[in-house]
Amino acid sequence: MLEALADLGGQEALSGLEGHTVDPHQLLGLEKNPRAAAIAELALWIGYLQWHARTRGGAPNEPILKAFRNIRVMDAVLEAEEELLRDAAGRPVGDRGRERTRYLNPRLPAWPDAEFIVGNPPFIGGKDLRARLGADYAEALWAANTGINESADLVMHWWDRAAGILAAKDSPLRRFGFVTTNSISQVLQRRTLERRMAGRAPISIVMAIPDHPWTKAARDSAAVRIAMTVAEAGLKEGALREVVREEGLATDAPLIELSERRGRINADLTIGADVGAAKALLANGGLSSPGVKLHGQGFVVSTQDVRALGVDRRPGLAERIAPYRNGRDLTARPRDARALDLYGFSEERVRRDFPEAYQHLAATVKVDRAKQHAMSPTKDAADYLARWWIFGKPRPDLRDALVGLSRYVVTVETSKHRVFQFLDGSVLPDNMLVAVATDSAVHLGVLSSRIHAAWASVAGATLEDRPRYSKSRCFDPFPFPHPTPVQAARIAAIAEELDAHRKRVLDERPKLTLTGLYNVLERLRGGATPSDLTPAERRVFDEGLVLILKELHDRLDLEVAGAYGWPADLPA
Ligand SMILES: C[S@@+](CC[C@H](N)C(=O)[O-])C[C@H]1O[C@@H](n2cnc3c(N)ncnc32)[C@H](O)[C@@H]1O
Repeated sequence: MLEALADLGGQEALSGLEGHTVDPHQLLGLEKNPRAAAIAELALWIGYLQWHARTRGGAPNEPILKAFRNIRVMDAVLEAEEELLRDAAGRPVGDRGRERTRYLNPRLPAWPDAEFIVGNPPFIGGKDLRARLGADYAEALWAANTGINESADLVMHWWDRAAGILAAKDSPLRRFGFVTTNSISQVLQRRTLERRMAGRAPISIVMAIPDHPWTKAARDSAAVRIAMTVAEAGLKEGALREVVREEGLATDAPLIELSERRGRINADLTIGADVGAAKALLANGGLSSPGVKLHGQGFVVSTQDVRALGVDRRPGLAERIAPYRNGRDLTARPRDARALDLYGFSEERVRRDFPEAYQHLAATVKVDRAKQHAMSPTKDAADYLARWWIFGKPRPDLRDALVGLSRYVVTVETSKHRVFQFLDGSVLPDNMLVAVATDSAVHLGVLSSRIHAAWASVAGATLEDRPRYSKSRCFDPFPFPHPTPVQAARIAAIAEELDAHRKRVLDERPKLTLTGLYNVLERLRGGATPSDLTPAERRVFDEGLVLILKELHDRLDLEVAGAYGWPADLPA
């Protein structure tokens, strides 16, 4: 603003507008920490004085620093009457070293009228809010901001508040912009954006940088990456600026090069097809689900345990002990774990028919769940304790969907490579696997194609740097093609061969892992020839027959593209 004024000829250009000056009194701020507020106020004056010296010279009017007190010391996202919790003797009640506070009547604080809002709110992930700010504060924050899901990062409370002001009738606010965590475009955060962008008074993102480096990475801390978003009211196009080159990040003169595209910016900070807005399809309904969640390591039993549980003596028990696979079993090597699965049995029946199993679970799972309930008496914890002999989440819908299938498809929820494979129908999938109740190799083939992988990586989220496959975002809205019988037969044949090839290679070579195979496949896909591979990669390439893996995937991609009626080389 000050630079623009200088371009217009400086303060004199405004002659006639007596009493109008541009100085820090126009710049208001909200800051919880009084020290940070004082520093912010001083920083504004330093900026102002630098500008003054650069454009006007001479000394500014006295007093040089005026006490505007524009940076209000207040909580920007929660207002409430606070009361220290005390016990019967009047002593403050503590929780993990923090005094507990009751927040009465939690509500949104008023923000001063402004034409532009800019901010760099604190970065705290949704799952850390309770631990970092205290459970009492976190609960009050969510109670005051009912529109924000609990898993959203703290910065989203600023974003949503500003969006609310922007959308209000006759709002003086013209734009707002925030620096946020780069996870803003991911599922849990972008719900806030989606709601505001599709609201009755919609707002639009007019500038976004989805992923930008931030601080220099300190020796003992990971490099932080951020996003920047600017929004205006109404339906507008925007500039999407993506970092195409970054160098010297650890120096004081980093080089960051951006490319720019214009268009409607979606809530996932992309331009083009709005994959994030795709709706669940009826045709895919009820087919996929995360696997079971045990809530008790006592359910996992070794070969020795199985004998001790009386599997030879107790009729029916063997059928209740199922092979159990989690993500690592599939991406690395299977541990041959088994789980005791008593879903559908009453407590009395377990005691009567399988007394050893009953005692084992009572001594392990029941004790653990009772401890958990004593520590945090939530409704879920009470429910898990009441049904202690059964997995926490036994997934009845998935069980129904799997009835009659001798095999089904799984993928690991959070995984570097998006790989789908068949598991035998007797195997219990863990919660970190997404299961698809189909025994069709056509389905396996379509899910294994480059087209589905590209879709899933845009529709899903990432955890750290690993893509995450979400049943509701990646599977439910995914449109399968309608292949002709000939196309379907070809897809099925390749998918069967792919599944069998990987299983055989991993079976015959105990040192190989699925991740290892796909790491080398990625190198080949990136243009490496076998002679470019490191000795370790070359070993995997040779033993894992990765060229065949690549050939099968390439053929699958071709056939699946054909089933959609698309060319095989359609860019992702
Ligand atoms: C990432 S720093 C940004 C500091 C400064 N505004 C800047 O841009 O350089 C986040 C600031 O938010 C302040 N803060 C944290 N929680 C707050 C809240 N609930 N209300 C207002 N300010 C808060 C912190 O004290 C901290 O100074």
